[in-house]
Amino acid sequence: MKTIIEPFKIKSVEPIRFTTVGEREGILKKAFYNPFLIKAEDVLIDLLTDSGTSAMSSRQWAGMMEGDESYAGSKSFFRFEKVVKDLTGFRYVIPTHQGRAAEKILFTILGGRGKYIPNNTHFDTTRANVESSGAEAWDFPTEEGKKPDLVADFKGNMNITALERFIHERAPGNIPACMLTVTNNSGGGQPVSMENIRSTSRLLKKHNIPFFLDACRFAENAFFIKKREKGYAKKSVRDIARKMFRYADGCTMSAKKDAFVNMGGFLAMNDKTLATKARNILIVTEGFPTYGGLAGRDLEAIAQGLEEILDEHYLTYRIRSVEYLGEKLVQSGIPIVRPAGGHAIYLDAKRFADHIPPHQYPGQSIVCELFRVGGIRSVEIGSVMFGKVDPKSGLLKSPSMELVRLAIPRRVYTQSHIDYVIEVLHEVYDRRKKLKGFRITEEPPVLRHFTAKFEPIG
Ligand code: F0G
Repeated sequence: MKTIIEPFKIKSVEPIRFTTVGEREGILKKAFYNPFLIKAEDVLIDLLTDSGTSAMSSRQWAGMMEGDESYAGSKSFFRFEKVVKDLTGFRYVIPTHQGRAAEKILFTILGGRGKYIPNNTHFDTTRANVESSGAEAWDFPTEEGKKPDLVADFKGNMNITALERFIHERAPGNIPACMLTVTNNSGGGQPVSMENIRSTSRLLKKHNIPFFLDACRFAENAFFIKKREKGYAKKSVRDIARKMFRYADGCTMSAKKDAFVNMGGFLAMNDKTLATKARNILIVTEGFPTYGGLAGRDLEAIAQGLEEILDEHYLTYRIRSVEYLGEKLVQSGIPIVRPAGGHAIYLDAKRFADHIPPHQYPGQSIVCELFRVGGIRSVEIGSVMFGKVDPKSGLLKSPSMELVRLAIPRRVYTQSHIDYVIEVLHEVYDRRKKLKGFRITEEPPVLRHFTAKFEPIG
């Protein structure tokens, strides 16, 4: 059969509240044109993030009832630990309340002034955790990865040549760890090839630099390897994922993505000294090592989720449904990062609204219009999220791409929801010349996109 169906039945549903264009104009104004300040119940289709927004399975909910809430030695911890060890091979598994808590612990230990952390592309919280330790976060995407319109299989790859040069320049002793984000979220949800994971691993081993995967979307990455990389078509996604982890010395994981849970994460590694230090911080900031930042029931849900994510019927449906959205947009000439990412479609705001310069935030303008026209919530990944104002000149330093992310929650929306999104995008694209730029009226010192306030120009 040609039709790829949702590999599940729907047992429980949540109604969506409908609003009019007029109501949404008021909602936008009240939220200072920042999608993070819009109330969720005012959103029709929520594509703000795929993080913590998955629909859990009946087995995960059953696991919630099985949760052992003992302070120490919880049965649920041992189930969780076994699943993570079996998948990743890492010896020490430390549960945290979400991915950034794992990052915070890791960089509290490894970071600090004078240190450098390379990555293919840091996610915003990862960068913030590196920088708040005093260390510097450096991105090494490939040239391919920087060209939105270029179709290539592994645009999430690390630029190995640039990384090697960097290691020589800064000296391995100043690089306490290197991360690799799979899939590369800030780079368009693009996958990293096994070949690239292997080369990164080899280079780092040569210089004795610990290698950590930022593994939130490891299963989607593994599925792309199966589909696109020579020699993997007949391997199971589980085996591919295992192989990916075996090249690394540890990982940070936000279980809110590829473990289908609403809250959770972990830090895992092979180094005993590092694990001991991490557990000491964990006890002070998160909780006792057999629950960390989580309840026993959350650990059950993660353990179950990590099994379900490797179901290849699920991954086929997942990757295809995101690709379907991408395909329809490309067919109508709407500029997106190509090919479609694993968890999201990224609109190329520079080309979509080419009359709005980066310092007037073209992505933010599209985000607001998608909400106004169709009640769709998305997020800007461009000059709002990553732009830095130079203190000397007062000018905005923009990142290389201006994107709008439409992240697809896992197992939540059906094809007709996606068809509606396509229809709204057509309308917004047809009227794109009428889009206005925005200015920021108030912003916090770090991670400004979450709380900044905006107003339309003119
Ligand atoms: N690393 C990557 C690649 C991520 O995408 C995220 C979260 C994190 C780390 C942090 O994990 O949220 O559990 O603390 N990304 C979400 C997103 C928020 O919308 O892409 P967290």
